[in-house]
Amino acid sequence: MAFTKKTVRDIDVDGKRVLMRVDFNVPLKDGVVTDDTRVRAAIPTIQYLKEHNAKVILMSHLGRPKGDGPEPALSLKPAADKLAELTGYDVKFVDDTYGEKAAAAVAALEPGDILVLENVRFDKREKKNDPEIAKTLASYGDVFVLDAFGTAHRAQGSVVGPAAYLPAVAGFLLEKEVDTLTSIFAEPERPFVAIVGGSKVSSKIGVLDHLIDSADTLIIGGGMAYTFFLAQGMSVGNSLKEEDWVERAGEMLKKAEEKGVKILLPVDNRVADHFGEDAVPEVVTSDAIPDDREGMDIGPETEKLYAEAIQGAKTVFWNGPMGVFEFDNFAHGTEAVARAIADSDCTSIIGGGDSVAAINKFGLADKMSWISTGGGASMELVEGKALPGVEALLDA
Ligand code: 3PG
Repeated sequence: MAFTKKTVRDIDVDGKRVLMRVDFNVPLKDGVVTDDTRVRAAIPTIQYLKEHNAKVILMSHLGRPKGDGPEPALSLKPAADKLAELTGYDVKFVDDTYGEKAAAAVAALEPGDILVLENVRFDKREKKNDPEIAKTLASYGDVFVLDAFGTAHRAQGSVVGPAAYLPAVAGFLLEKEVDTLTSIFAEPERPFVAIVGGSKVSSKIGVLDHLIDSADTLIIGGGMAYTFFLAQGMSVGNSLKEEDWVERAGEMLKKAEEKGVKILLPVDNRVADHFGEDAVPEVVTSDAIPDDREGMDIGPETEKLYAEAIQGAKTVFWNGPMGVFEFDNFAHGTEAVARAIADSDCTSIIGGGDSVAAINKFGLADKMSWISTGGGASMELVEGKALPGVEALLDA
């Protein structure tokens, strides 16, 4: 499926003030960016605009500030510095977003300049999508570019607002993310194997439903597997479970059977007597989880089973870890799945969030075909939902 919105390629940006929403919501430690993936991902569009003589005004949120004014720990300055470091460009920063200082910094820009505004969420009106702040932000630009894929599911002031006042188009990251994450489901090369993990069925219900409609095999791991075990009448000891979702999990298993979609659930598990980094794993088959043990990872036989399915795939989509991969004792299952994907020739699409953190932990990022920069946004897209930020852009 081709991307159906206009992009920066379709408009004249020469000498224009280009107001661009990026997703620089990056992790910080002591004022330093600890993972610069999202800053890197925005560079192609920034570079294009600079090379085409635009005056580039970048805005983003970072974290979840209260919205009552500046919170120094959530300033965008470290992200602006990281952009300067990665590109070698002179990147200006102004510690204001909606006031006279920001307006003056914009007015002083020359073609090819890049300015980063302060965190848009330091003012409550951003999250409320208040038209006043949209108007203020729009006054900084002649055109609006949305490249913040990770935030495109939020109908907030800086994401959708300026599109009401300015010609609004997509940047390259947004285009590539939407194109990749929609075409994989529209025309996957088969066999198409989808892998879903994470702790809760309830938070991935839409995704699981959609995957049963498009995948040939659905692999399930992580804490959510235990709710599926309950739906099959098995006992799960102290493992994480969502009693309210057992019936729904059962319906999904039935739907998959009716559609001829193969569901793979763990055949064995690494369990422990408590949840903790020091917990010692014991391997048990899925039909014999002791009452006083909780499942924390898939087991070695399951790793083999899942790796075989992945080896036979032409397309793989993965979201969510197979176990508590943050603890080394329970990272084996997630690592085995990541390595199986890395070793196969398939097209591999990684939906954001924890699976991305896992892939980075195992140093396998460059072995994947596409790693999404969006967590919530990629899940909503996979569920088939329209993203408000994308909807607001001009049709191609
Ligand atoms: C993300 O990290 O998923 C995006 O930047 C959106 O952040 P939010 O969930 O705080 O809106």
